[in-house]
Amino acid sequence: MKVYRCRVCGEVYIGEEKPGSCPFCGAHQDYFVLARQWQLLKAESLSDVTKENLKKALDLEIDNTNFYKAVSEKSKNTYVKSMFKGLSKVEREHASAICKHLRIEKPDSNVGADKAVESDEENVKESNRREKRAVAFYGQAINQAPEPEIKEFFKALSEIESDHITLSEQGI
Ligand SMILES: [Fe+2]
Ligand SMILES: [Fe+2]
Repeated sequence: MKVYRCRVCGEVYIGEEKPGSCPFCGAHQDYFVLARQWQLLKAESLSDVTKENLKKALDLEIDNTNFYKAVSEKSKNTYVKSMFKGLSKVEREHASAICKHLRIEKPDSNVGADKAVESDEENVKESNRREKRAVAFYGQAINQAPEPEIKEFFKALSEIESDHITLSEQGI
């Protein structure tokens, strides 16, 4: 058995092999390293543009976390409930990871929860829009970040949100 650790969210995974993607934040396998070699993707100090983008990213992730959680609680369909529960956990992990960069406590907020509607199909469409928005935002943030570690962090998040676009396009 080996101890692995995710460079994006910092969570630990114990297993024979690396997981296909991080069970906590969804980061792709390459971000998993053996615990002995682990170092969180974190910059020594942050530029103003990065601080601004991290704050925007935090708002986006919290909003998505709450929307997904609300849908998972509202839907009657087991698949939809599961999918949105999983998405909510991943986005919450992103929000926590962003707070580590900003060196702040995760704010308590319910923004986004009221956007869950009765129709599962509509909620899935909304998730697709949200993930596309996230990928567009992170794409811009990658280009703007002067810190190599932050560039990589945003890139990892962008890849994960792209996976979510794929998921939402598979339908229910
Ligand atoms: Fe992770
Ligand atoms: Fe996210």
